[in-house]
Amino acid sequence: MALTIGVDVGGTKIAVGVVDEAGHIVENLLRPTPADSPDQVADTISEAVLELASRHDVEAVGLGAAGFVDETRSIVRFAPNLAWREEPLQKKVAERVNLPVVVENDANAMAWGEYRFGAGRGESHVVCVTVGTGIGGGIVLGGVLYRGRWGMGAELGHMQVMPGGRLCGCGNLGCWEQYASGNALVHEARTMAAADPARAEHMLRLAGGSVSDIEGEHITQAARDGDECALTAFTTMAEWLGQGMADMAAVLDPGCFILGGGVSRAADLWIDRTRAAFLRALTAAEHRPHADIRPAELGPAAGLVGAADLARHP
Ligand code: BGC
Ligand code: NA
Ligand code: ZN
Repeated sequence: MALTIGVDVGGTKIAVGVVDEAGHIVENLLRPTPADSPDQVADTISEAVLELASRHDVEAVGLGAAGFVDETRSIVRFAPNLAWREEPLQKKVAERVNLPVVVENDANAMAWGEYRFGAGRGESHVVCVTVGTGIGGGIVLGGVLYRGRWGMGAELGHMQVMPGGRLCGCGNLGCWEQYASGNALVHEARTMAAADPARAEHMLRLAGGSVSDIEGEHITQAARDGDECALTAFTTMAEWLGQGMADMAAVLDPGCFILGGGVSRAADLWIDRTRAAFLRALTAAEHRPHADIRPAELGPAAGLVGAADLARHP
């Protein structure tokens, strides 16, 4: 069975895996992401790919990258949360590994992985929303991954939800990813803790006492312990998500939404709030079927599995 390599380049880790045609991971490696150096990122990817390619007979490589990838699947033009600017990632890696390489947007890759092998199996119209550092989007319409004219479609995180709102890594104000991502969750929790330390006492204790050390893991732990303040932070994020998904349904009318990304590993804590907010905001809700909102099934591997599969598809 033909094997390909999938790579998911995250802000902290680079996951690389050999994947078969059924979406099974044959072997995988994890490497830390070198900070702020696109050249070192390309080197790290290439070394991991070469290591796996020395042990497996692979045909091609798919790279999922958290940014705006051009229509030739080669260049990361811009990344709101990473150092890539007009980065010729495809060329840099292909030169070193001597295999066909394609670059895909990370959320597109994840959506494709879930559509083919995960929570979107059997559906034809799928919108995947990845909730991590930012918000990623991936849209499958009629079984085809939608990339737009220039490769930059499905940048769902950069719809404006708040005129004059928080500054986004893309340079605009009030983007959805500033209200409904992992970063937004942390922002919300820290704001509450700064305003009312007594109310946020449990989160603050988990974080070691200081507001600026509150991270997602502390908020999740506190919420699991039933802490009201942490649960409020999740609720705020979850409602922003539901509203945005209702807007997406107005445009795309998908059969299901899939929630992926790091924050959705704790989806049991908040997905019902998202469903409720979605139904409240859905236009003509009484006169239409309601798209199912599901957590992703493939977990942290979805991106690399999808990227590996997209390396086989045009
Ligand atoms: C970027 C997307 C990316 C998403 C998730 C956003 O800030 O604009 O390209 O898919 O983050 O990583
Ligand atoms: Na995308
Ligand atoms: Zn933005």
